Amino acid sequence: MRELIKGIGNQIQEAIKIGSSARFSIPEKEIRAVIVCGLGGSGIGGRIISLLVNEELKVPFILSNDYSIPACVDEHTLLIASSYSGNTEETLYAVKEGKKRGAEIVVITSGGELLEMAQQYGWNHLVVPKGQQPRAMLVYSIVQQIYILNAYRLISSKEMDCLANVPDFLVRQRDMIHAEALRIAKFLHQKTPVIYSGSFFEGIAIRFRQQLNENAKVLCWNHVLPEMTHNELVGWAGGSDAFAVVYVKTDFDHPRTNYRWDIVKEIISKKTAYVTEIRAKGTDRLTQNFYLIHLTDWISIYLSELKQVDAIEVNIIGHLKTEMGKRK
Ligand code: PA5
Repeated sequence: MRELIKGIGNQIQEAIKIGSSARFSIPEKEIRAVIVCGLGGSGIGGRIISLLVNEELKVPFILSNDYSIPACVDEHTLLIASSYSGNTEETLYAVKEGKKRGAEIVVITSGGELLEMAQQYGWNHLVVPKGQQPRAMLVYSIVQQIYILNAYRLISSKEMDCLANVPDFLVRQRDMIHAEALRIAKFLHQKTPVIYSGSFFEGIAIRFRQQLNENAKVLCWNHVLPEMTHNELVGWAGGSDAFAVVYVKTDFDHPRTNYRWDIVKEIISKKTAYVTEIRAKGTDRLTQNFYLIHLTDWISIYLSELKQVDAIEVNIIGHLKTEMGKRK
């Protein structure tokens, strides 16, 4: 896992090659909505992208992390099916339903039934390198979605232009990222992490949580501002030292949300001393997203090492899929 995370710059470059050499066949029909169907390590990219492009995209962007798709999905919907293995049953159910409704389907996968369906029905598809853990291939899912949205003329090439600079940027930040990741991992060790972010970076906070779950084998939760200031904040009434709070800060919160951050910090600091902050780096939203993905990936790895657990192993997910396979 360390090697894969270290290779993020190469993964971005490789993913750019796949996206830029794809030959999309684009239909005449108008696309009126986008839905990304995918689970876990293959679904989170959709959430990150939906929040990244929401200031530019003129049509609704929906996510399905389940078997079903909403009733609004029709022939004017671009349905992006993201499954690294190509065999995730929820995604396959969603895609089959999308096909019945005549949706415009595009596939991101490394193989499996999803690739077979894409080839059989002539759907646009992007094939990513095989044989890794899905969550270690998030970069591919994010980059391919940018290329897909651009190919369907739903977003400009702005994100693609920013992408090209990310690998060098991350190399320049490397020492700082490692020092920060180790510091945060030590801070989280033997606590339950609680992650708070602005809502534009909810996808990043969820990814952070998922990486802590899967790599470091810990439970944790996340919530976003401003929403948590209307409910969860009250839950801090009694205080607790069982939790370690991480604020994920970026330059893209609404100015009024920044006031909320100040007040939230003041309130929580009276309830627990276990509070720290991560600050995103980079001049644009895309770079700050990648910076945080990389930093939080390393936090999960350092925490797995402190806990002496195997970061790669996710036997429980495999077991669940096997058991589901027996129940037809
Ligand atoms: O991290 C994991 O292994 C999971 O979250 C998978 O990504 C999830 O089970 C979906 O599988 P796939 O990515 O093959 O569609």
